[in-house]
Amino acid sequence: MIRSVAIFGGGTMGGGIALSCAKVGLRTTVIDTTDGALDLLRVRIHDHLTREMAKGRLGANQADDAVEHLVLSRDPHLVSGADLVIEAVHEDLEVKRGLMRRIESLLKPQAIIATNTSCLLVRDIAAALDDPGRMLGLHYFSPAEISPIVELISTEATRPDLSEPVLAFLAATGKSPLPCKDSPGFALNRFFCPYCNEAVRLLDDGVATMGQIDAVACEALGVAAGPFRVMNLTKPVIMLKAMESLAVLGPFYRPADGLRALGAALADWQIDEQPATTSETVKRTIADRLTGALLLSAADAMAAGVVAPADLDRGARAALRFARTPVSLLADLPVAESTRLMALVDVHKRRGNLVPMSPA
Ligand SMILES: NC(=O)c1ccc[n+]([C@@H]2O[C@H](COP(=O)([O-])OP(=O)(O)OC[C@H]3O[C@@H](n4cnc5c(N)ncnc54)[C@H](O)[C@@H]3O)[C@@H](O)[C@H]2O)c1
Repeated sequence: MIRSVAIFGGGTMGGGIALSCAKVGLRTTVIDTTDGALDLLRVRIHDHLTREMAKGRLGANQADDAVEHLVLSRDPHLVSGADLVIEAVHEDLEVKRGLMRRIESLLKPQAIIATNTSCLLVRDIAAALDDPGRMLGLHYFSPAEISPIVELISTEATRPDLSEPVLAFLAATGKSPLPCKDSPGFALNRFFCPYCNEAVRLLDDGVATMGQIDAVACEALGVAAGPFRVMNLTKPVIMLKAMESLAVLGPFYRPADGLRALGAALADWQIDEQPATTSETVKRTIADRLTGALLLSAADAMAAGVVAPADLDRGARAALRFARTPVSLLADLPVAESTRLMALVDVHKRRGNLVPMSPA
C-alpha cells in the first residue's frame, strides 16, 4: 500500500502532483535542486489551497492537513522512506537516467518508481535501473492538481504486482488511469500534437492567421481554446520536442517548419486576438485539415494498439476537453466527410508525408 510519496522536481508538474497527493492525506515530499523552485511552490500551494477553500471545495482543517503532509526540500536522502517516487524533472533522457540511478541507491527495494515524462519512452529511462521491473510511467496532464486523467504506462519489464498498489494510489488521489502502450506520445499526445502541428502547417501555407485558425478549431471541435493558445500555455518549444519524438512514426509526424523556428527561438505565438472575418471556403479548409490530422493520428494510434478506443475517447474529453472527440467524429463520419478526409490523405501522400506505419 502506498502511504508515502516522494516527487523529484517541484516545477509545473511536480508541484501539481504533490498537491493532489497531500490533499488526500498522503505523506508527500517534494525534492528539487533549487531553493527558487521550492519558494515558488510554497506560494503556489498557499494560493491553490486558499482558492479551493474560497470555492468551498476544501475545509480549513483539510487545507491545514494538506500543508502538514507536505515536506519541501533539497535533500534527496528524504526519498528513503517513500513507497512511491514520481520523477518530474526536465525532459532530458540523460538527466532522468542519472536521477534514476541516484534514486535507486537511496530507496528501499520494494518501493515503486514512476516517471512523468511526456516525450521519452519509459523503457529508455527504466533501462538505467538495476531493477527496471519496479518502474512504470504515470503521465499527468496540466494542471496536475486538478486534471483527472493519468496515463498509465507499463513497459515489458514492469512487474504485474505493481498494478494493484498503483491503481489504489490513483483512485485515492482522485485520478482515473488511462492505460496505454509505451510508444511515442503515449495515447493522447499521439493525436493532440499532430493536430497542433497541422495548425502550424496551415499558418506556414498562408491559409489563415493564428486567430482565425484558433476560432475555427473552437467551432469545429468544441474546444475552449484553439491550438495556438494551448501551445502558448504549455510553451511551443515543448510542442516541438513532442513532435520531434513523434517523428519516428513517419513523415506526417514531422514538426512543421514554423514550429521548428519558433521552438528554437524559445518564443511564443503572437496571436491576433481579433481576427478578420474568415470566408466559408477558408473555414472549411481549416476545419478539414485540423479534423483530418486529428483523425488520421487517432486512427493510427488505435490501429497500432496503443490505446483502446473507449480510453482514447475518455481522455480526449476529460484531459484535453474536446467536446467532439476523435472517436465520435470517426463514428459519425458521413460519406461526404469521409471523402474529404480521403482527399486530405491524398494531399499528404503526394507530399510523401504518409508511409505505412509499423505497429508501435
Ligand atoms: N508542463 C507540462 O504541461 C507537462 C505535462 C505532462 C508532463 N510533463 C513532463 O513533466 C516533467 C517536468 O516538466 P515541468 O513542466 O514540470 O518542468 P519544470 O521545468 O516546470 O520543472 C522541473 C523542475 O525539476 C527540477 N529539477 C531538475 N533536476 C532535478 C533533480 N535532479 N532533482 C530534483 N529536481 C530537479 C528543476 O529545478 C525544476 O524545478 C517533464 O518530463 C515534462 O515532459 C510536462
